[in-house]
Amino acid sequence: MGPRSRRSYDHGPVAEETTEMSSNDNTTLRTNSLLPYLGFYEIYPLQTYGTGLDSKPTLKRGDITTSPWCTVYLVLEYRRWCFGYRKIRSESDPLTALHAGLFAISPQGSEFYGAKKMDYENKLVLAPMVRVGTLPFRLLSAQYGADITYGEEIIDHKLVKCERQINESIGSTDFVEKGTKNVVFRTCHEERNRVVFQMGTSDAVRALSAAQIVCKDIAAVDINMGCPKSFSMSGGMGAALLAKPLLIHDILTTLKRNLSTPITCKIRLLKSTQDTVELARRIEKTGVSAIAVHGRRVADRPRDPAKWSEIADVVAALSIPVIANGDVFEYEDFQRFKVATGASSVMVARGALWNASIFSSKCKLPWEDVKREYVRKSILWDNDIRSTKHTLKEMITHYSSLELPEGKAVTRSETSADLAKLYGEEKYYQFVNENRSLLNGNRQIYYASMGDHYIQN
Ligand SMILES: Cc1cc2nc3c(=O)[nH]c(=O)nc-3n(C[C@H](O)[C@H](O)[C@H](O)COP(=O)(O)O)c2cc1C
Repeated sequence: MGPRSRRSYDHGPVAEETTEMSSNDNTTLRTNSLLPYLGFYEIYPLQTYGTGLDSKPTLKRGDITTSPWCTVYLVLEYRRWCFGYRKIRSESDPLTALHAGLFAISPQGSEFYGAKKMDYENKLVLAPMVRVGTLPFRLLSAQYGADITYGEEIIDHKLVKCERQINESIGSTDFVEKGTKNVVFRTCHEERNRVVFQMGTSDAVRALSAAQIVCKDIAAVDINMGCPKSFSMSGGMGAALLAKPLLIHDILTTLKRNLSTPITCKIRLLKSTQDTVELARRIEKTGVSAIAVHGRRVADRPRDPAKWSEIADVVAALSIPVIANGDVFEYEDFQRFKVATGASSVMVARGALWNASIFSSKCKLPWEDVKREYVRKSILWDNDIRSTKHTLKEMITHYSSLELPEGKAVTRSETSADLAKLYGEEKYYQFVNENRSLLNGNRQIYYASMGDHYIQN
């Protein structure tokens, strides 16, 4: 073994990019370890000191191995490092090691080594919505039929300041800013297998540190690459990432290699279909589990029609599941969108915000009923009053006006008790607050006792 210069291999422009060094050379693992070259295997794992990862590969960038057994050993070591699972040594039994090595890098091997999987086929998906997609709204959507529910975007800077706390009185798992009572993300066991944590980030290592805090309590991590708001763009996050394919690669591969949780991202359309397809292909090569495509460009406004045909072009170019997003307002649109694009699944934002029962195959419920159910869930899960008010105001703006009595009363409300009174839910509010201890750990019994109306799926 000895140091040797880096080499480009003939495996296409995207793979070429994998030989590029990370902006965080000392903290990001990046490897070409399995590229055969004249019987040699050249490897580029990087040291990971300082990332908080519990074990460190000992190889340095540029090390070369001339032995396939050694490479197998490295693969195993690498997987062990990724997943923290048992170590399989290869030197003594090369054939076993080769078999185990091939198994380790196969999809089944990934499963065996602890990688979680998520099914993205034929799913109705609640889109991420800032200040809307908190726990009550996600549970509401799931109650009506959403299979996968994205949380609101949370910035990595915020999450890294949080600690995980079990909230005994509510029965939730909270991620609370240290030294404060500020709940940045609240989830619960009921949504464990369908909640997607959406993150805003512009840095691979910070994204990894943040994701490690929540990854055990969620079903998947999604990176927001579509937000056009100036706050996101100026921080190099959201849609700003679309212009930085190397950074996208860095973030996604770092998460992918270090977490056993499925990783996805959500993009917008680029200037031309060709550009979008090229970027989507690069993203696919990072090993993400799925990609959500919002059928609008960064400069488009919500009133501009989503370009379903351009999503179809992305679907045609990829093998991974594509989640199509944009302009679903009725239950029937899910199927129309799927047929028009060939997408695996369909995601809806405003259609769900205005009436979350859009996910129900039976029929849409009156929005007044959906709104009251949302208020109840917000009381039950002690939702941040600002989020509850914001969501109600969005609903009211769509159907009515904030200048009418209901809108004004919501604006004036300061507590969930005020909202409970406004929507005639005082008894419910009182019951929940008097019986928190009963609810905790007995939620299903409680739902059952309240009749079908309260039963969660
Ligand atoms: C209130 C609101 C908040 C949103 N917040 C986010 C967000 O946090 N992350 C994100 O990727 N997209 C966000 N979006 C965009 C939606 O996820 C979705 O891509 C867009 O609204 C198009 O879908 P639609 O036509 O079904 O509304 C938001 C949209 C709305 C209406």
